[in-house]
Amino acid sequence: MSNDGTVVVASALRKVYGTKESELEVLKDVNLEVNMGNLVVIGGPSGSGKTTLLNIIGGIDRPTNGQILVFGEDLNSRNEDFLSDFRCNKIGFVFQSYNLVSTLTVAENIAFPMEWLRRPEKHVSDRVEQLLESMGLQKRSQHFPFQLSGGEQQRVAFARALANDPPLLLVDEPTGNLDEEISARIVEILSSLNKEGKTVIVATHDERIFERANQSLWLEAGKLMNRHE
Ligand SMILES: Nc1ncnc2c1ncn2[C@@H]1O[C@H](COP(=O)(O)OP(=O)(O)O)[C@@H](O)[C@H]1O
Ligand SMILES: [Mg+2]
Repeated sequence: MSNDGTVVVASALRKVYGTKESELEVLKDVNLEVNMGNLVVIGGPSGSGKTTLLNIIGGIDRPTNGQILVFGEDLNSRNEDFLSDFRCNKIGFVFQSYNLVSTLTVAENIAFPMEWLRRPEKHVSDRVEQLLESMGLQKRSQHFPFQLSGGEQQRVAFARALANDPPLLLVDEPTGNLDEEISARIVEILSSLNKEGKTVIVATHDERIFERANQSLWLEAGKLMNRHE
């Protein structure tokens, strides 16, 4: 982290997909500063680039132009090996489609990021137990993703994202595909993680999440602005 408690600084980010003939400028001039401990919520129309922006903040994708600093690291100047380790230690991702590994059990999915960092076996099994319990998934540990409901898969995705206790969580439309009751539970999970001190950046359309935000933003026509009610 930089000394002043700033977790993310994005300056003049631009992202263009495609080739010259089929060029699509998704992000035109995005500027963002996120302070430690904030719950930042980003809205915007479908296709406005929310997922693209989260991927750039998480070092999964690179901007075409502009600078992205996360915990003081200039991600665009780093190679893939650095970024893999950086992500594993510092960033928890909860993808819109969960991205669980279909051939691994729930417990194995949650253990995966810890095994990647070669954490001791006992540490991994204790942490898996702890996360299963906190997400209410104890009875699901030996099941495979296809055996779970959407809400359960989402909670496995949260548990996996939290495995290495990252200080920053990036969460993409966490309630988009879920019914009311499950969504309300996910909103509570987000809020309590933030209260525990995690910096959380969420892309969503869900008003309940905006209600919990410290910073409400809106992405449209390639630009990020403050969101007004
Ligand atoms: N890898 C890609 N290649 C080409 N176009 C892409 C790619 N990823 C996203 N896009 C396009 O960029 C735009 C923004 O997508 P996305 O970031 O997923 O928006 P949102 O998450 O706000 O719905 C969309 O028009 C989408 O089709
Ligand atoms: Mg998206």
